[in-house]
Amino acid sequence: MKIAISSDHGGNNLRKEIMSLLDELNISYQDFGPQSDDSVDYPDFAKPVADGVSNGEFDRGILICGTGIGMSIAANKVKGVRCALVHDVFSAKATRCHNDSNVLAMGERVIGPGLAAEIVKTWLGTEFEGGRHARRIEKITELEG
Ligand code: RB5
Repeated sequence: MKIAISSDHGGNNLRKEIMSLLDELNISYQDFGPQSDDSVDYPDFAKPVADGVSNGEFDRGILICGTGIGMSIAANKVKGVRCALVHDVFSAKATRCHNDSNVLAMGERVIGPGLAAEIVKTWLGTEFEGGRHARRIEKITELEG
């Protein structure tokens, strides 16, 4: 599995924590920055991750900003991206089982690194259930036009 990851300045610290976790888990990833703590615009950093998942270069994406909200809104504008904003382990599992989410957004100002790590492990380790949920994903895809 190949992951694309980025944040804005509000998510820099948590992004580094999650990259360390991915290293520990031996999961390959590409870091799309930012490489400084300067204030940046989150859509600029959501784009390469969302595009990379949309075009199949990456299997999954992880986006972090202060709340996770801006990143999730931006990522969901890209065709083929199903970005879930998640701050609890139950939702991390459910959004993989039911929504086949391919991008995970989290807010560094909302949760701590311990919970974020559990969310990432659960989200990466849970398979889509398919069945009736696949029909619903097809209907989401139809909404993209
Ligand atoms: C940046 O201050 C903040 O607005 C951003 O990280 C994010 O929370 C936006 O949704």
